[in-house]
Amino acid sequence: MDSTTMKATAHTNIALIKYWGKKNIELNLPTTSSLSLTLDKYYTTTSVSSAEIDSFVLNNQPADATRIHHFLNMLRKQLGDFSPLKVISENHVPTSAGLASSASAFAALTGVVVHELGMNLSNEELSRLARRGSGSASRSFFGNFAVWHKGIDDESSFAESLNASDMPIALVVAEVSHAEKKISSTEGMQRALTSPNYDDWLVKSANQLIDMQSAIQHADIDKVGSIAEDNALGMHALNLTASRQPFTYFTDQTQMILSLIQDMRHQGILAYATIDAGPNVKIITTKDEASTIVNILKNAMPTLAVEVAQSGPGISYD
Ligand code: PMV
Repeated sequence: MDSTTMKATAHTNIALIKYWGKKNIELNLPTTSSLSLTLDKYYTTTSVSSAEIDSFVLNNQPADATRIHHFLNMLRKQLGDFSPLKVISENHVPTSAGLASSASAFAALTGVVVHELGMNLSNEELSRLARRGSGSASRSFFGNFAVWHKGIDDESSFAESLNASDMPIALVVAEVSHAEKKISSTEGMQRALTSPNYDDWLVKSANQLIDMQSAIQHADIDKVGSIAEDNALGMHALNLTASRQPFTYFTDQTQMILSLIQDMRHQGILAYATIDAGPNVKIITTKDEASTIVNILKNAMPTLAVEVAQSGPGISYD
């Protein structure tokens, strides 16, 4: 691989139907299919060049390359051997957003490496590879809505774009904390699997996925939000009811925001919560209502950092 200036840019995504459990840890095969919205504001740009050993520079600082080295070795097995790489990434995921960057990071890295190898793979094929780095990365190749089909093996577990009508959906991101999460998503998922409610969650999630696709086809943002909230709270209930080391990512502020969201709904504002592996709350709403929600949050919790995101594009190269 020659030294290069080519860059790949991938945006992060928020799951409206969550991935929360691995059927196979090594292959990152999920127990459920999941569905996401790609976000405009938050993205990772990555380039690679030849090096002595695999190394990683993140936001102009040398960074721990362990996870990237492991991922590149997986790519070497799948695609054919290539020389060590220096991976240079810029994360445009503001710390204030409280959004995970592993989705955009592994999508951008997969995209740029495959391009530099001169291989022409479809986004679905790239998605299959990126899944091995971080499950949610499989969904970050596509703009707007994407579905990650859980599949039954490495070959059949990948994401694809969901053809959707235009809708004025927005996401208000309320940052409760941007501290590193205490329980990794892998560890959280392993604990959740021990919940006696896990099998019910699998059945419910499959039904919610069907309902969500229909709500998206009808551009029914209220329905999208309500299914997403139900799905997210179901995921967090698994954590609380785990038989092995039950836990929660919620803090008092998370609870406070959830109760503000209920008040907003009583006032007729379209607002529904979704929460990932951390305390931050993302509020699904319409472009028109986003500023009202920001104002309510700022009034109630003046120190809270709040951002508004909208639907974002798929991976691009320049
Ligand atoms: O991609 P991972 O391994 O970081 O797991 C992501 C888990 C959630 O963000 C909580 C859900 C999801 O589907 O993105």
